[in-house]
Amino acid sequence: MSNAILRVAVIGSGPAGLFAAAALTKNDNNVHVDIFERLPTPYGLIRFGVAPDHPHTKNVIRRLSLLADDPRISLYANVMVGRDLEVAELAARYHVLVFAGGMKEDRKLNIPGESTPGVHPAIDFIGWVNGNPDYSDVAFDLSGPNAIVIGNGNVALDTVRLLAKSADELAETDIADHASRALAGSGLQKIYLIGRRGPAQAAFTYREIKELSELPNCDLVVNPADMAVTSATHEELHGERSVQRRRIFELLESISNRPRRTVNKSIELLFFRSPVEIHQDGGINAVRLEINRLDGSAGQQRAHGTGEFETIPCNIVFRAIGFRGAAVTGVPYDEKRGIFPNIDGRITRNGKCLPGYYAVGWIKRGPVGLIGTNKADSTAVVKRIIEDADTLRSRNVDDAPMTDLLSRRGIPFITFNDWKKIDEAEIERGRSGNKPREKFTTAADILACLGRTQ
Ligand SMILES: Cc1cc2nc3c(=O)[nH]c(=O)nc-3n(C[C@H](O)[C@H](O)[C@H](O)COP(=O)(O)OP(=O)(O)OC[C@H]3O[C@@H](n4cnc5c(N)ncnc54)[C@H](O)[C@@H]3O)c2cc1C
Ligand SMILES: NC(=O)c1ccc[n+]([C@@H]2O[C@H](COP(=O)([O-])OP(=O)(O)OC[C@H]3O[C@@H](n4cnc5c(N)ncnc54)[C@H](OP(=O)(O)O)[C@@H]3O)[C@@H](O)[C@H]2O)c1
Repeated sequence: MSNAILRVAVIGSGPAGLFAAAALTKNDNNVHVDIFERLPTPYGLIRFGVAPDHPHTKNVIRRLSLLADDPRISLYANVMVGRDLEVAELAARYHVLVFAGGMKEDRKLNIPGESTPGVHPAIDFIGWVNGNPDYSDVAFDLSGPNAIVIGNGNVALDTVRLLAKSADELAETDIADHASRALAGSGLQKIYLIGRRGPAQAAFTYREIKELSELPNCDLVVNPADMAVTSATHEELHGERSVQRRRIFELLESISNRPRRTVNKSIELLFFRSPVEIHQDGGINAVRLEINRLDGSAGQQRAHGTGEFETIPCNIVFRAIGFRGAAVTGVPYDEKRGIFPNIDGRITRNGKCLPGYYAVGWIKRGPVGLIGTNKADSTAVVKRIIEDADTLRSRNVDDAPMTDLLSRRGIPFITFNDWKKIDEAEIERGRSGNKPREKFTTAADILACLGRTQ
């Protein structure tokens, strides 16, 4: 094994990138990791995706924050690879590039009227609620009574829950102040959640739907007719690995049988429906839905339109049907899957591994999995890096300080030490409102907190 320091650039400071940095430095002192982050703060979707009313989920940050004290690891936030630094420039300075950029683009329905005003990606709403600077200027008109959320995954459920809760219920969370004020003026009364398949095929998890069924000020409604079970669905519900699916189904069945409650808001789950068109009529949106039936064998059931339609008027629509990665110049990109093509994390070009290029997290495997899933995934890819390390570190690389290059370019980068100051300032700002923190929601405010300008 060579004694030369292995210089690694990690692109993205979400859980996948940080778990990779932790695994790389766990047993090797001859490694230096520079982490590049497009946003002005670290932690990716742990900070900007996890809902404000799920603070326990963000506890993982405590463990990951220990990386900031490791002299072998540096952070350069507010630096976008592909814009501020080219991939070729990184390749000239690092033996290893680990791409951990996640997936920012949301998948589209590709139906007429999808760009009608009032139709939003749910991730924009969640980013806005969470104070992500990318969405600080987005406006959501929450004044009308009806909202539609399309999709049956946990992002859709988070969106529905945040719309359903009152501003008071969210007050003592780290919700962004702008979102808190807007939600206080919300006129929403009814939220429809649309799934193209049935309750047995829903992608959301038990804990999340249970939480929705227990909201004190909002009724959850399931149509008993949607709970009918075909033989293929029966098989899906009673397979060896169906425990979670069956628990969800049984919960939904019990909700479908319970009496309606008289409260201000309701969430209605509509299964077996696909949006086919969105149109605006006199300032009100309407979503045209085709009623589906499922075809295919157990585990392979797909939704097919029946030719029967219904239309639901609504004021605002959110789309939560998954994500896609974005290409970065200089890195192979699989347009069809929206990921960086790879074999076990080694990025490939035309099927052949590209030495020194790796992918972890969502950009490696697609937009599925919880925060913890990324730990095992990144650790496995780091094993591949360690296997390749001797060959990779024999290449001569430019070890001039990254800070010099970034300063020469006038890029206002943010380090771990800067982040510690921002973190303390946010916690202090939250104190008066009894909030865990009051986030800065623009890059300018973050730099101002550090006494710097953009
Ligand atoms: C709305 C939402 C809520 C979620 N809630 C939960 C939850 O409650 N519990 C749970 O366990 N899981 C949750 N998940 C799933 C979890 O967030 C993901 O599994 C995880 O964040 C994926 O990690 P990642 O590091 O691949 O991507 P990300 O967390 O997205 O991190 C990628 C990082 O790379 C940065 N980046 C991108 N491109 C560049 C570039 N060119 N240069 C520099 N930096 C770049 C991004 O700014 C980002 O910070 C949620 C997901 C979403 C979308
Ligand atoms: N609280 C949490 O723990 C939490 C919160 C948020 C996210 N996450 C995790 O993050 C990951 C991503 O979540 P996600 O909700 O974005 O994705 P997801 O779990 O993959 O769910 C996507 C949903 O969109 C539906 N869909 C896809 N294309 C559609 C179309 N054209 N028309 C109608 N519906 C369509 C899918 O239906 P089909 O099944 O029919 O394809 C599915 O119901 C998941 O692993 C999730 O568990 C976790």
